[in-house]
Amino acid sequence: MTKEEIFTAFHDIGLVPVVKIDDAEKAVPLAKALIDGGIPCAEITFRTDAAEEAIKKVTKAYPEMLVGAGTVINPKLAEKAVAAGAKFIVSAGFNRETVEWCLSHNIPVVPGVCTPSEIELGLSMGLDVLKFFPAEASGGVGMLKNFAGPFAQVKFMTTGGININNLQDYAKTSNVLAIGGSWMVNADLINNEKWDEITALCEDARLKLQGFKLVHVGINLADEAAAAGAAEEFAKFGMAINNGNSSIFMDKEIELMKKPGLGKNGHLAVRCNDIERAIYFLKDKGFTVNEETVKRDAKGKIKVCYLNEEVGGFAVHLVK
Ligand code: 3PG
Repeated sequence: MTKEEIFTAFHDIGLVPVVKIDDAEKAVPLAKALIDGGIPCAEITFRTDAAEEAIKKVTKAYPEMLVGAGTVINPKLAEKAVAAGAKFIVSAGFNRETVEWCLSHNIPVVPGVCTPSEIELGLSMGLDVLKFFPAEASGGVGMLKNFAGPFAQVKFMTTGGININNLQDYAKTSNVLAIGGSWMVNADLINNEKWDEITALCEDARLKLQGFKLVHVGINLADEAAAAGAAEEFAKFGMAINNGNSSIFMDKEIELMKKPGLGKNGHLAVRCNDIERAIYFLKDKGFTVNEETVKRDAKGKIKVCYLNEEVGGFAVHLVK
């Protein structure tokens, strides 16, 4: 995998479990639990002697899985990790020698930063993906928003104090590439072989990451007169009529189409934090994108698209 492919995978998966493993024999069932939970990715940290063997076993069992090494504090460890099969290198802090070793060996490296000076050091070495660690203790989302001004080109893998309860705040922040953490793979879960629980925690986190929310229901009507008639009826419930070109909105939640649009009955508009990531997530659930409906913003990011599959007679479009 190229560096770009790896960083795109971080973004699309959206979550990077930070693993501390004591027994390498548990690495393969752990990897399976993550894959089953929709997270084919892990940062196995060199905080235990089992890390190297764990990386070896997982890369052998699941060559497609995006497995990297964390807590890599010097070039020697980076070399060891890569020899074991690590596809990327992460560290809690910024070690210039480790970064140089990775760059010269063409290994994607994500060193940890929590200050503007460290970000500038990263940029001076050609890095525009950095780990923001320890995220919560260093100012969390507020700090990331401050970084977005001077360092608009930098994206962060954020870890440290993130869990299912504050994950949404990070998921909504535009310069967050992916969210890392140990909450879905903590040492107790691994040591007690709670594989089903790990899978469930991953599924839960992945769904929460999307931030899906129904924003409006579009109802197909035969023509403008039918839409106006329906508007009069909905207005009896106190909803405000907002007349547009192709439809009439009742407040913001109901859209009355002036001629039948996509969907047998109409459409559902579902908001999410990141459409590209949501598409990746929904692919696993059997949905595909209707390419003809994709609209992009100035940066090329999708701002709206329909899915090909209908739900209960309604087409679904995603919106940010
Ligand atoms: C890391 O190295 O990224 C952290 O140990 C993960 O932080 P967490 O344990 O608070 O999730």
